Amino acid sequence: MVQSHHRLVLLATDSAERARCVEDALAHSRGAIELLWGTIELRTSDNLRDVAKRLESRLYDVVLLDPSLGVREGNDPLNTILIASPRTAVVAMVSEQEDGAALDILRRGAQDYIMAEEIDYRSLTRVLHGAAERKSTEMAIAESRAELIWRLAKAAEYRDNETGNHVVRVGCYAREIGIALGLSRNEIETIFLAAPLHDIGKISIPDAILKKPGRLTDEEMRVMQQHCAIGARILDDSTDASQSQYAKRVISSGCLGVHDDPVRSMARRIAMSHHERWDGTGYPGRLAGDRIPLEARIVALCDVFDALLSPRPYKRAFDLNKCLEIIRKGRGNHFDPAVSDAFERCLPTIMEIRADLVDTQEEEAKDCIEWSYV
Ligand SMILES: [Fe+2]
Ligand SMILES: [Fe+2]
Repeated sequence: MVQSHHRLVLLATDSAERARCVEDALAHSRGAIELLWGTIELRTSDNLRDVAKRLESRLYDVVLLDPSLGVREGNDPLNTILIASPRTAVVAMVSEQEDGAALDILRRGAQDYIMAEEIDYRSLTRVLHGAAERKSTEMAIAESRAELIWRLAKAAEYRDNETGNHVVRVGCYAREIGIALGLSRNEIETIFLAAPLHDIGKISIPDAILKKPGRLTDEEMRVMQQHCAIGARILDDSTDASQSQYAKRVISSGCLGVHDDPVRSMARRIAMSHHERWDGTGYPGRLAGDRIPLEARIVALCDVFDALLSPRPYKRAFDLNKCLEIIRKGRGNHFDPAVSDAFERCLPTIMEIRADLVDTQEEEAKDCIEWSYV
């Protein structure tokens, strides 16, 4: 529920006319709007780079967006905003001739739109309040869903790594590489949630194999490799429970908001293929090149990099230089070269994520990790 308090609104347009429309509506009716919605602080920006900078430095409740801002320079304004500040609601300001643009922007993640010709304090209040309210509900659902996914992923990882931060880090790295590769906002946020489930199938691997301090025998390796197919089965598109008549009745009542879940289906592809190698020598399918789903190619690199840097029951943590040497040697054979290059571009951010999500056991084992990265 949106509380009535101080609201921060960013007006993003390079059209003086549209800016004036909004400013006039606010100037003439500020008292009425504030009575309904709380005090409003309005900031205006006429270029997309500045919009992104402002959103990264301060949490805005709503961006009133001119959907043509920055498009001439080849930018996607909505995507830029949603990446810079996923918590901010977006309301598109469109003219009557831009009906198509309004629907498109709604489909891609804006909360609402307002006709530029109809901006007055009533419509502005209704739209701003509704958009902020919807965004806040969406965020609450998204956060609880992310929490559940992380806890499930951590449960599978627990025997290998008690804090379970490895799986969360892999999701964060994968998101950064997705951004560096120019994936869409939806793909980026989906991989962020799906990647932590890559090893969910390990839940079925016996401790004697998972925690074995030495090399696995061929038979043990065969059992270990089954975690891919088992993970994919866990993440299959239907469970016995969801297919039951009882569950179908509850779901069709609409109260769960259940829909086809892109996170689950991407997580399934990642679980199945994160041990495939670019040159076709991986497992379980010996897929090569782009026959391996892109998200699995991204997670393959993130997973190996983080595992190399972390102590495991069977190995000490490698120092960063050694890890980078191994990752770089894998370019074009183990890893997709485009993913390797994207990893290099976001390495500083990846190291920040790693420091932010360090494992307790690693803090204790600092003496065996050389933090020499600069
Ligand atoms: Fe794995
Ligand atoms: Fe992993």
